[in-house]
Amino acid sequence: MELVRVTGGASLSGSVRVRGAKNSVLKLMAATLLAEGRSTISNVPDIVDVRIMNELLRRLGCSVTHDREQGVVAIDVPRSPGVRADYELVRAMRASICVLGPLTARCGSAEVALPGGDAIGSRGLDLHQSGLEMLGATVRLSHGYFVASAPDGLTGADIRLDFPSVGATENLVMAATLASGTTVIDNVAREPEIVNICEMLVAMGARIDGIGTSRLTVEGAASLHPVDHEVVGDRIVAGSWAFAATMTGGDVRIDGVNPSHLDVVIEKLELAGATVETAEASLRVRGPKRPVGIRVSTLPYPGFPTDLQPFVIALNSIAEGSGMLTENLFEARWRFVRELARLGAKVRVDGHHALISGVTKLSGAPVEASDIRAGAALVIAGLVAEGVTEVSGVDHIDRGYEHLVEQLLNLGATVERVEVPDPVDVVLHE
Ligand code: EPZ
Repeated sequence: MELVRVTGGASLSGSVRVRGAKNSVLKLMAATLLAEGRSTISNVPDIVDVRIMNELLRRLGCSVTHDREQGVVAIDVPRSPGVRADYELVRAMRASICVLGPLTARCGSAEVALPGGDAIGSRGLDLHQSGLEMLGATVRLSHGYFVASAPDGLTGADIRLDFPSVGATENLVMAATLASGTTVIDNVAREPEIVNICEMLVAMGARIDGIGTSRLTVEGAASLHPVDHEVVGDRIVAGSWAFAATMTGGDVRIDGVNPSHLDVVIEKLELAGATVETAEASLRVRGPKRPVGIRVSTLPYPGFPTDLQPFVIALNSIAEGSGMLTENLFEARWRFVRELARLGAKVRVDGHHALISGVTKLSGAPVEASDIRAGAALVIAGLVAEGVTEVSGVDHIDRGYEHLVEQLLNLGATVERVEVPDPVDVVLHE
């Protein structure tokens, strides 16, 4: 098995480039299914989730080429794509659910495996289903698959989301672009990734009003055409680096992101004692000698992103005084706390709240990543721990962070990726 082995003590310095957002590129790739022909997506990060989406699209009959160096994916979508998204791929990446809307709208049917919950929560999909049903599709669960059907096409409708779900907003706005008539979707998600997707749909010929607001009005089109589109910079990866600079007392310039997508994050880091300078597509973060505890509540955008929650807990674990984190999106996003406690962190979880009492020093230990963000935050915590921290479950990190170890080395960290015999495997084969 692979481990990331971190030796604590370095304060990060230098610059790091962030490429496109995982939580946008996967949906942009799914949106290409809405039009026959060749679309290209640029500023694509070299992460495992993109490779899984490449495979998913190939199984739907698309030809996909991915230049990982240049960060470009070219997708040739056939006249009649397949409509079945297999369980084994959806199990590996729940974002696969975002082909449900485009396939139902373009092909009149879709069969997408139900992704199920994961390490951070139950993750319902009822808003996806009820929204598609309001657009005139029938959606039923059969043998573990969402089976959607709209043989006569979709029809525009007024939809109000109970919660500004990112995934439901994306599936429904994509589906509405090919529905006949007007669709109004109220209480939609407003993340920069949603804006990025809507801009691509408009470039494909869709008519969408209210982009970036909580109400989207979509005029259905008879057909859309392929495009070339660029992925918006990854604010979550950039935020991860900003926390790393703050926690290590470092000085890091982060290129390739729009700082305004991180306003609330920058505000909190400044409260923790960091100095943050911003420019058009970059930010420079200088960390204090020791951060101060901060209080954060995760919320849909423009609130504080839940995906940076583990970094808030890690920062507060070594901060002066105490800090508090309230998780409002994912009820089970606490597995990280158990692992951080192995490094000596003092965290008490009570329902949606975590109270963190800062300690002067964490101490290195073997820990396990349970999801993408928890994994990266454990590596960063290892940078401020005494001795060596070994992080397993590296495959989670690779799903959302490209070349994390190489970039950390460039910033002066002592870190390596190593292969070690899997102790369970050894026992099993004795
Ligand atoms: C997206 O997940 C991101 N994933 C998540 O990032 C991110 O944490 C989340 O948005 C919130 O910002 C991708 O874009 C691939 P939601 P998504 O639908 O679309 C409930 C990462 O680390 N809900 O906004 O699944 C749901 O259970 C990942 O990059 C319903 O109840 O998020 C959750 O509590 C982790 N019914 C809340 O809404 C529904 O039909 C937010 O979910 C849909 C959602």
